[in-house]
Amino acid sequence: MSNPNAHTDPKLTQKQAVAKTALTHIEDGMILGVGTGSTVNCLIELLTQVHLKGAVASSQATENRLRALGIEIFDLNSVGKLDLYIDGADEIDAQGNMIKGGGGALTREKIVAAASRRFVCMVDDSKMVAKLGKFPVAVEVLPQARSYVARELVKLGGEPVYREGFVTDYGNVILDTFDLQINNPIKLETTLNNIVGVVCNGIFANQSAHIMLKASDDGVETVSFDKAINQ
Ligand code: 5RP
Repeated sequence: MSNPNAHTDPKLTQKQAVAKTALTHIEDGMILGVGTGSTVNCLIELLTQVHLKGAVASSQATENRLRALGIEIFDLNSVGKLDLYIDGADEIDAQGNMIKGGGGALTREKIVAAASRRFVCMVDDSKMVAKLGKFPVAVEVLPQARSYVARELVKLGGEPVYREGFVTDYGNVILDTFDLQINNPIKLETTLNNIVGVVCNGIFANQSAHIMLKASDDGVETVSFDKAINQ
């Protein structure tokens, strides 16, 4: 049966399929780390089908949606390590490195991902890339450091574009940085983090995915990356 909402998002059917598969990774009674974005929104709609103790949200938007379903929200500081974090991505490579932050929630997402044992990433078939970098790298910056950080990003070969009218959940601004050469995702993630005034950047190579659930029109494929679980 065709999806009546598919015209609003050509990948909606794939996002719904991958979210349904992600549901099978959730264990009874767990506190789930929940990402942000349209793919995650498809997952949230299904969460009433499983029994969660509660959730740690990666953004205010996700928190609002979870609360609306009656799911208890926990502060990350009060729960210790989470067993599972589920999120989407803007790009993912064959090693599970990702670019995230299209929705601007990168910092909180990266914190919750770092505090989780496993990261399950849900993508549709438009997100898989041979090399990261076509999608701009979001760099969250303290407002006062915006121009300085922009100049440093230019020195690294990037073309930063100020995300006008957008303020992060932490009150910061975002520079969407095009044209960065991401030959070594871990190294560039660290280099960007070392610029004074940068809060976080959208390369997720240290917090790469353990499992990718990849949707296509033929179904959902599960890809496990050879990576130790975060202890
Ligand atoms: C938000 C993110 C999202 O995971 C990413 O933008 C993918 O979103 P969508 O599922 O809507 O394509 O990193 O900051």
